[in-house]
Amino acid sequence: MRRIRLIVEPPTGLLLNAVTGVAAWVLLVLLAAGAVSLPLGGPGRRLLSRVLGMARALTGVQRARAAQVLGHEILEPHPQDRTAREVAWLAVHAVVGPACLVSVGATLSAAMAIVRLRTAENGLSVTLNLSLAIVALTAIGLAAVPLLHTLQARLAERLLGPASSLAGRVRALTESRAAAVDAQAAEVRRIERDLHDGAQARLISMRMTLGLAKSESDPDQVRELVREAWESAGQALADLRDLVRGIHPPVLADRGLAGAIQAAALLCPIPVRVDIDLPARPEPPVESAVYFAAAEALTNVAKHSAATWAWVRLRHSGGVLRLAVGDDGRGGARPSAGTGLGGIRRRLSAFDGTLIVHSPPGGPTELTMELPCALSSPKISHS
Ligand SMILES: Nc1ncnc2c1ncn2[C@@H]1O[C@H](COP(=O)(O)OP(=O)(O)OP(=O)(O)O)[C@@H](O)[C@H]1O
Ligand SMILES: [Mg+2]
Repeated sequence: MRRIRLIVEPPTGLLLNAVTGVAAWVLLVLLAAGAVSLPLGGPGRRLLSRVLGMARALTGVQRARAAQVLGHEILEPHPQDRTAREVAWLAVHAVVGPACLVSVGATLSAAMAIVRLRTAENGLSVTLNLSLAIVALTAIGLAAVPLLHTLQARLAERLLGPASSLAGRVRALTESRAAAVDAQAAEVRRIERDLHDGAQARLISMRMTLGLAKSESDPDQVRELVREAWESAGQALADLRDLVRGIHPPVLADRGLAGAIQAAALLCPIPVRVDIDLPARPEPPVESAVYFAAAEALTNVAKHSAATWAWVRLRHSGGVLRLAVGDDGRGGARPSAGTGLGGIRRRLSAFDGTLIVHSPPGGPTELTMELPCALSSPKISHS
């Protein structure tokens, strides 16, 4: 099935890109018409915004298709750059889309034309040369199909993804700061809720039970009420312990990042190969972010992948901590489909880190997380 898709996809994609290339021409003409009619006021503005809406829909589809071809997500550009980049892509795609199909078609047609040139009167050497030309042209035409298909996807990634200029970098940092503040606020809200619904509720019930015991004269009743209060105190303690664990898991404090990830891998119902080589420990906030990222990635493997095995690889080199979590499962991981992968991205962006999701349909899946950090604390040896 996968092999059939690999054969069918490139020519279908090239054909579709030629069609969308023609659509890009139409949209460019309509955009020009909209721009020219802007001085007319209302109708001009309406035409322009409608055409820009159609261009956005087309570029959205192309971004998704290119992401599928490349096997990784293509982020959207910053809203400020978006329209300019989309119009630039329309202009490039209007030429490249049809041109790729035409060039492949021309090469294969040339081969067909030579087939017709071969006649019985040709001598042996002419026939041999013509046959060689046919084979060469057919091979070039067929090999060009997947190459051009990937090239078009890369072009879409370059033009429809975020700009990598200094301005883009400043914007990314501004956004990551906002994401960090958001993540922080969400975390505070979660702790507030957990305290409110957990320990606080237990303590209230304990106070009420003890209040009843205070005014009770029957010793048996008092004993029963004190037992209830004792149970509530135990539950409040358990809730507080869970809450603290969620903030900074004890295993992380005791055994460091490597030990904590190994412990998380052991809890995964699928066999996980763990390969960690860290000469020292990162700072605690980084350890915490990477640990929770690895834990969520492994939870996803267990929940969604249907894999037979998974792997975790953690390295530090050139001032960058790299964590990869992969599996041989069905693929199709999409950060937009849940809150877990988006949460990892937000968590890492607080440290200027990134998450790349490589998960083509059919698998395998690999999440690559990178964050710049220095290793400072000495390594903890775990027995
Ligand atoms: N390893 C994986 N293999 C296959 N699909 C995956 C994998 N990881 C994630 N997915 C897909 O990507 C989607 C998004 O994952 P994400 O972790 O963001 O959300 P979730 O696990 O569904 O919910 P939660 O918000 O509780 O984490 C999942 O719903 C699942 O369809
Ligand atoms: Mg998840």
